[in-house]
Amino acid sequence: MQAGTVQPGQRIGVPREIFPGEKRVATVPDVVEKLIKLGFRVAVESGAGEAANFSDEAYRAAGAEVIPGAAALWAASDIVFKVRPPIADEVRLMREGGALIGFVWPAQNPELMQQLAAKKATVLAIDALPRTLSRAQKMDALTSMAGVSGYRAVIEAANAFGRFFNGQITAAGKVPPAKVFIAGAGVAGLSAIGTAANLGAIVRANDTRAEVADQVVSLGGEFVKVDYEEEGSGGGGYAKVMSEGFQAAQRAMYAQQAREVDIIITTALIPGKPAPRLITADMVKSMKPGSVIVDMAAEQGGNCELTEPGQAVVKHGVTIVGYTDLASRLAKQSSTLYGTNLLRLTEELCKAKDGVAVVNMEDDAIRGLTVIKDGTVTWPAPPLKPAAAPAPKAAAAPVAEKKGGHGHGSSAPLPAKTLAILFAVAALAFWFIGAYAPAAFLGHFTVFVLACFIGYMVVWNVTPALHTPLMSVTNAISSIIAIGALVQIAPPEAGTAGRPDELIRWLAFAGIVLTAINMFGGFAVTRRMLAMFRK
Ligand code: NAI
Repeated sequence: MQAGTVQPGQRIGVPREIFPGEKRVATVPDVVEKLIKLGFRVAVESGAGEAANFSDEAYRAAGAEVIPGAAALWAASDIVFKVRPPIADEVRLMREGGALIGFVWPAQNPELMQQLAAKKATVLAIDALPRTLSRAQKMDALTSMAGVSGYRAVIEAANAFGRFFNGQITAAGKVPPAKVFIAGAGVAGLSAIGTAANLGAIVRANDTRAEVADQVVSLGGEFVKVDYEEEGSGGGGYAKVMSEGFQAAQRAMYAQQAREVDIIITTALIPGKPAPRLITADMVKSMKPGSVIVDMAAEQGGNCELTEPGQAVVKHGVTIVGYTDLASRLAKQSSTLYGTNLLRLTEELCKAKDGVAVVNMEDDAIRGLTVIKDGTVTWPAPPLKPAAAPAPKAAAAPVAEKKGGHGHGSSAPLPAKTLAILFAVAALAFWFIGAYAPAAFLGHFTVFVLACFIGYMVVWNVTPALHTPLMSVTNAISSIIAIGALVQIAPPEAGTAGRPDELIRWLAFAGIVLTAINMFGGFAVTRRMLAMFRK
């Protein structure tokens, strides 16, 4: 993969995934069209998209060549797009000096790294992307796959659960809503919270990083705190291993949740460490018969003691789902998102749009991703310069502090000196108005200033999510002009009857009708909007 000589355009090859049960594919027809617009040629192995519902015909229609057989496909490709890390047989098929983009997990696959280096390959591991760079978010396949998996975890839970998620009142009786507890509110956990809440369940969640509490609430969940003060941020948005004291307090809280809820979805992970054991066998035993646990950390050892990775098992009357292929179970969706992540990466590699990918090691995002460059192992990348990463303090800021702000978050408080000057100027202006303005004006002015102050205090602390309902209720309240119209509609005093008064009464009547629509409509819309936030 070089600035270079190959014309017209390098060929991107997409083989069929050979890992047993893997249904995803590294590109989809819509993305193929866009890769071609960047100047590349695209080749897809026959049948590569079949399990994700993309036919050879669809790829051909998008402009790709369809090549039968993995060997021919790998041999023809300058750059290979893959989902799963290649196995040794696939590496053997790779062109000497070729390029590979996909999940590689270099820390877990040292042998694979050696094999690829021996091929003088250039390898971009999408899992090594520096995720905290905001510019890198469009390429963040870990996030898109975790989002799909979180959604699918809820669907799996719903499938194994014998009741509705939402509460219902039917002729046959009242059905209570299901209670769902989500352990770990990272990307996958938040996706699961939103999905379960949308299905109508009562959702609770816990995470060791206090900063996620607001996000849990905004998705319709309730954040359940562990009764122990310890911040769980380990830097870069990830968690750390917690102290013994915290773990004991957390176990007590989880044991109580296990007794109360119907479904537990666990997503807790700590980079480079085995998944924390959060659900013990005793907690499983204490759950109601027919309950469900979906352990999304099954591949990393599981958050639940009784999980069997890759399996759904029933233990103590509880179904424990330990599938490790949740994203692949929604193959069309995950392939589309993954393909788009790789497209965004390709755009970064080919800014000239000439079909030639250039690996610029000066670019922080590309440097982080590049684990092997022309046969030399370049993993792990040096840590990002401090300026590029978000300040950890800001990320870990206590939730209460964020709430205490006025909801717009970004504006910093004014320095004390500026504030003092502003107050002095305002006081001087008030003295001037008091001394020289006419008495009638002064009365109105005082009311005006007080109204501004009260308005500010009422509105400024409202969370941004509630701004739209706030506007609609303000709109409804503004219909107070109805009172003016009511005063005008009173019959004219005896002896003063005449045409102008009649006209004013009709206008007042029209005013009342219109403002009534505004008033009732405004309150009705506000009610509906607030209902979306209520559980
Ligand atoms: P992950 O998959 O490593 O962990 C999942 C969740 O488990 C995390 O929220 C973690 O705090 C939680 N957890 C770990 N140990 C736990 C325990 N003992 N008890 C309860 N919960 C525990 O993390 P993921 O989802 O890949 O990302 C973590 C965070 O990083 C997310 O909040 C995400 O928003 C953030 N992130 C930020 C990015 C950025 O700044 N551009 C990009 C990607 C993610």
